[in-house]
Amino acid sequence: MRRLDQLLANLGYCSRSEARDWIDSGAVTVRGEPADGPSQKAHATDVRVEGEPLDHPDGLILLLHKPLGLVCSHELREGPNVYSLLPPRWQRRNPVITSIGRLDKDTSGLILLTDQSALVHRLTSPKHKVPKIYRATLAAAIPPARVAEITTLFAAGTLVLPEEKTPCAPAGLNMISPREAELTLTEGRYHQVRRMFACVGYEVVALHRSRFGDLDLGDLKPGTWRELPLDFFNLPAVPSAGATPPA
Ligand code: URA
Repeated sequence: MRRLDQLLANLGYCSRSEARDWIDSGAVTVRGEPADGPSQKAHATDVRVEGEPLDHPDGLILLLHKPLGLVCSHELREGPNVYSLLPPRWQRRNPVITSIGRLDKDTSGLILLTDQSALVHRLTSPKHKVPKIYRATLAAAIPPARVAEITTLFAAGTLVLPEEKTPCAPAGLNMISPREAELTLTEGRYHQVRRMFACVGYEVVALHRSRFGDLDLGDLKPGTWRELPLDFFNLPAVPSAGATPPA
């Protein structure tokens, strides 16, 4: 059970102080009865706001088609971010909705967003080796004679990026055409795809992530998302904004 003002504020409806006015106005009910006051405790499933059940009280997992030009950081100084695509109420939630790993501003494609911190940790841990597939367009064609050499180097798990100490994990290279490469990574280092190609002398001029584990974008348009069920990754339920904490 949670205090109503905390529940409403954490789910992004209003501030804790505004919750008092909402409750006084009769907009909030608990089990069909007008709520007593902001400190009343209730289960999220018993609460209605203007007759409607609470908005995703147990948490959210979203699969977003990230468009170009948006960052995954919450830091506003870094520019417009992917969270600005979401409904304003979701942008005010606590815990915040955040990306699972990041894509650069100039990279499009599949990114997962969630308020489930355990999921962020699990899916970004290199230990779990979730394969991610990127489609890179290169500034110049790779001659056939070099493709085998670069494929072997990337697959070997020996490539050390500039300024780093540990080699990249083995990565799969598949050429789609002389200037288009598909690269499969199981980790997510800063600008990794661009830096790996730079190491072998090729500039990436466009980058798109098409897959994350078993997931793909399907027919999602850039800037749109679909929800995944909370048990999609078989993670034990974690108390979220509106969930009841374990006793
Ligand atoms: N590698 C990059 O260079 N950029 C991304 O956004 C993701 C992987």
